Amino acid sequence: MKKILMVVGSMRKGSFNQQVAEHIAELLKNKAEISFLDYKDLPFLNQDIEFPTPDVVKHVRSAVDSADGLWLVSPEYNHSIPAVLKNFLDWISRPNEENNPKAGKTSADKKVTFTGIGGSNETAGCRKNLFDLCKFIGMNVVGDMGTGFSFDRDTFTTGKVIFSEEDNAKLLAQADTFLASL
Ligand SMILES: Cc1cc2nc3c(=O)[nH]c(=O)nc-3n(C[C@H](O)[C@H](O)[C@H](O)COP(=O)(O)O)c2cc1C
Repeated sequence: MKKILMVVGSMRKGSFNQQVAEHIAELLKNKAEISFLDYKDLPFLNQDIEFPTPDVVKHVRSAVDSADGLWLVSPEYNHSIPAVLKNFLDWISRPNEENNPKAGKTSADKKVTFTGIGGSNETAGCRKNLFDLCKFIGMNVVGDMGTGFSFDRDTFTTGKVIFSEEDNAKLLAQADTFLASL
């Protein structure tokens, strides 16, 4: 089975996007091997600490290397990419060797697809920014701008995301396209 690494753009306890990522993992449990990236200890990228490569950065890059594709599931912050997720993408966009811009970059040719849950625009601002950024850093974007969902009336009172059959169909169609590309 192909390996998909889920990268969630929110570290909030009870995150709605984490719930979406877990739901995707459940939908795909017989179709793909899914794991979740733990990148909460990734430092802010500062070129002073790029080399020697910090262990936590090595760990994150190796998790990305081991995956056939990344599925980014993220909220939208001010119509854009949450800083934690942008920081992760910046780290994987950098050469793996000092003074050697041609050394491999973890992001190169990596397949990626996007999903997010947010307000009424269904995280379209974030997904558009992810689309542009991921292309810029040489990733292979699958499924265009991905899929978006909006909170329903009860999401904030119950703290739970509920998925309709239509939502599941949307996610499964995205998954089929993504898996076929891997
Ligand atoms: C700094 C910040 C900016 C936000 N900007 C947006 C936005 O532009 N569009 C939107 O739909 N929601 C926005 N929100 C609300 C988030 O959608 C909401 O907090 C959501 O619960 C975050 O996702 P999570 O539950 O996965 O943590 C923003 C939240 C924060 C903290």
